[in-house]
Amino acid sequence: MLTIDEAFRKFKSRLELNDREQENASKRHNEVREHIRSRFTTDDDFLTGSYRRHTKTKPLKDIDIFFVLAESQRAKYRDKAPSVVLQDFYAALVDKYGDKAVSKQGRSVCVDFGVVIDSDDNTDYKVVSVDVVPAFVAGNDYEIPNADTGKWMKTNPKIHAEKATDANKNYGGEWKALVRMAKYWNNNPDHGADKPIKPSFLIEVMCLQVLYGGWGGRFDYEFQALFTTLADRICDEWPDPAGLGSPISDGMDAARKQRARGLLRAASDQASIAIDLARKGRTGDALKAWRKLFGPKFPLS
Ligand SMILES: Nc1ncnc2c1ncn2[C@@H]1O[C@H](COP(=O)(O)OP(=O)(O)OP(=O)(O)O)[C@@H](O)[C@H]1O
Ligand SMILES: [Mg+2]
Repeated sequence: MLTIDEAFRKFKSRLELNDREQENASKRHNEVREHIRSRFTTDDDFLTGSYRRHTKTKPLKDIDIFFVLAESQRAKYRDKAPSVVLQDFYAALVDKYGDKAVSKQGRSVCVDFGVVIDSDDNTDYKVVSVDVVPAFVAGNDYEIPNADTGKWMKTNPKIHAEKATDANKNYGGEWKALVRMAKYWNNNPDHGADKPIKPSFLIEVMCLQVLYGGWGGRFDYEFQALFTTLADRICDEWPDPAGLGSPISDGMDAARKQRARGLLRAASDQASIAIDLARKGRTGDALKAWRKLFGPKFPLS
């Protein structure tokens, strides 16, 4: 039988991006890029967000693509309300993908490729959706539309990427894996339609602070402690780690934070139970307890 450590290692590798997924992401990027370039005057476009930083979980959804609009477009878009550029991107993407596949979000337009996700969370190595984000250069940073606040918001993906790289280095190379696993827990359908933590970027932002002191060597102990600390601190305010955008914790109101706290405490209790089962030699039951906690990509064998 699989040991608990072997199970976590297998779980970790199942949440890593493989070549076929990267190939499909790149194909989708190129396809959306060709279309947006034919409709807008852009200077640059690139894959970004958690996909680029390797902190994206599975199934592979909502890969962020930044489209940097040319300076000549400033009067048409940057000087207008965020909803204007989002509406034009939305309309352009609907022309190619149809209105069932395209939806407007606060800071982006999502294109869903109609990929089937099976009960084990597999997608045949395909990307489920991409988030198309219009942007303007602002000095060393970017500005992106935020329809939720009606204002343009500064962001800097490079700073977020550097922070994630440093955190990973300082945590025995396991920090990104822990973030992907914690985000996978957040996606567990057992929580119902609403994820406990929103946006899931908040998990990564919290992990920048709450995972410190170095990798302890055991995934089970790390998660027991991580869930406890996330529960204790989920109601705090969490600013943008780059100090530019709105607080990442603004995505949840007080009621939603309380709910998240309850679910994180339950996860911490469930982790304690799983650890105890393994200690008593009941490895099979411990594996089942971890799988219940995380979801179908946690292996039983
Ligand atoms: N409030 C914010 N202020 C500044 N930058 C932000 C803010 N929210 C998100 N970002 C930047 O935009 C990127 C994309 O946002 P998104 O919500 O998709 O997060 P993500 O890290 O890609 O996580 P997910 O795995 O959920 O897609 C983030 O990775 C981050 O670099
Ligand atoms: Mg994203």
